[in-house]
Amino acid sequence: MVRGLGEALLKNPYFRPHMETVVSGIRSTGNLHLGNYYGAVQNFVKMQNEYNCYFFIADLHSLTTHPTPANLHANVKQVLVEYLAAGIDPEKATIYVQSDVPEVTELYLYLNMNAYMGELERATSFKDKVRANPDNVNAGLLTYPVLMAADIIIHKATKVPVGKDQEQHLEMARTFGNRFNRLYNHDYFPEPYAFSFGESLVKIPGLDGAGKMGKSEGEGNAIFLSDTPEAIRKKVMRAKTDSGPTEENQTKPQEIQNLFDLMKVVSTPDTLAHFDHLYNTCAIRYGDLKKQLAEDMIIATAPIREKINDIANDAPLLRQVARYGAAKARESASKTIREVREIIGFRKF
Ligand code: TRP
Repeated sequence: MVRGLGEALLKNPYFRPHMETVVSGIRSTGNLHLGNYYGAVQNFVKMQNEYNCYFFIADLHSLTTHPTPANLHANVKQVLVEYLAAGIDPEKATIYVQSDVPEVTELYLYLNMNAYMGELERATSFKDKVRANPDNVNAGLLTYPVLMAADIIIHKATKVPVGKDQEQHLEMARTFGNRFNRLYNHDYFPEPYAFSFGESLVKIPGLDGAGKMGKSEGEGNAIFLSDTPEAIRKKVMRAKTDSGPTEENQTKPQEIQNLFDLMKVVSTPDTLAHFDHLYNTCAIRYGDLKKQLAEDMIIATAPIREKINDIANDAPLLRQVARYGAAKARESASKTIREVREIIGFRKF
């Protein structure tokens, strides 16, 4: 899958200089779930054919919460394995580990000199984290948006596929890039914007009857790509339901609509129509619906699950992918750093 470095790197057939650059960072916390897959990763897999894509595992960002060395490594590995299993192609996209590219931290330092306390303290995500963990308000947390800006503009990316919750961070990335440009009177960094590719993104609800699928929403709410069929069945059978429809064609309550929304993603249109009809005629048995949903989830995730197991056991492959990705990312990042140093005024004697 991955050829050697050197020549292949310089003559990467997938590098298209006329194409816009996409950057996205993936938090290295835990396993991918169906929400991540259908809401984001599937789009990455399509994007890699049409843009110069940089997808990286944000392990530096994860240091704000002080993982143990063993956990840090295990989490990074898990994410790498699952992205490869989901179809990110290291030949097409550049997939790398953030800490393998020290140029990012250098740019982060430069940008920090023009990031102001006030604006950093006002960031919503910072205020949320302070509220959630008042005993761990470290400077890394405060400057998280600066590191994120560095991640993006180091590759001069203009498109960033992220959710609504990252809009403010992107706005800050534009601010920091523009401020650099203004300070040095140089039209250097382009502005990055949020990017949703293809049709509007599918929202994947969780199994607890409330909001979207997420890993922090409690045990059993999320179906992970690495879950065994038994685990999937167990979680789906425990999903929240009500006591059933009482009138024909009534509006479905949230928790029932959620199950149908999940079905829309993993089942055939016929299956969906079948259960919809049963619901509308008050003839539905939720047990049957859940059984079908679980089996269709198992089928939909089977190819990825199998690849996860194979790739996780292939240490040489993982090493090769990580090295190749780091080399490609550093090629782009070191060019930027060379130019930035020149613009700032660091000159060789
Ligand atoms: N902050 C992002 C998140 O919480 C992760 C991230 C870090 C990121 N650096 C990035 C996303 C750069 C896009 C681009 O999901």
